[in-house]
Amino acid sequence: MKPKLVIGNWKMNETFDEAQDLIINIAESLEKLTLETEVVMCPPFPYLELATDHAEENDFHAGAQNCSEYEKGAYTGEVSAKMLASLGVEFCIVGHSERRKYFNESNQTIAAKVDRLLEEGLVPVVCCGEQLEDRKADNHFKVVEKQITESLFHLNQEQFEQVVIAYEPVWAIGTGETATPQQAEDMHAFIRSLVEKKYGTETAYNTYILYGGSCNAKNALDLFAQADVDGGLIGGASLKAEDFVTIIEAAETVVKEN
Ligand code: 13P
Repeated sequence: MKPKLVIGNWKMNETFDEAQDLIINIAESLEKLTLETEVVMCPPFPYLELATDHAEENDFHAGAQNCSEYEKGAYTGEVSAKMLASLGVEFCIVGHSERRKYFNESNQTIAAKVDRLLEEGLVPVVCCGEQLEDRKADNHFKVVEKQITESLFHLNQEQFEQVVIAYEPVWAIGTGETATPQQAEDMHAFIRSLVEKKYGTETAYNTYILYGGSCNAKNALDLFAQADVDGGLIGGASLKAEDFVTIIEAAETVVKEN
């Protein structure tokens, strides 16, 4: 089993002082551990420099939650991939279901954001996942296939190999209703098979496919134990230092035992 990747998505939470405390608490706990697991924290834009400052000396990376689909210029309120790169940010979430829902992001917009990030050497963490209606109608594989195909499969092999995929079933996000380990595994294996068809077996094996959606300190171990679950994209539980560190430890344990 390859080392896991655990990413915390803070969403629109925390004041500056709270952000500082949270980053320092997590960093101090990580300092005591020898980790193979890669850890990323994605605070809101105004706190990214706090994260990059601490990321250097501690064993984690800083990530953003979004970026502009445009390179630069008169786009008031937007933040470019180049700006993120200039701060030392290494990862960026794109296509989160909350952005698809509240900001009307399409697969095409997400594809453009992926391109901007790759141009600047950042790792795009591209989210996909079905709504509850899709799952009830047994359409979930089709929906996810369309999202992945339209947002990622324009990339050449070398570009694709920089990308992380996060499967986040919308019905599991912030609801406390987690996908069962088997449901997660089935979708992750399906996504990996799509990648294999397009980019080959080695790339498919090396691609990180994370699970997100009410993943917490209690269920992380069972989810991460699945063969095709390469880590987690953690929302609510990434705002509590102790829980986030427990999730990271679960990732570490699973890899050591396999
Ligand atoms: P929760 O862990 O709060 O369900 O959020 C998941 C998520 O959306 C991470 O991007």
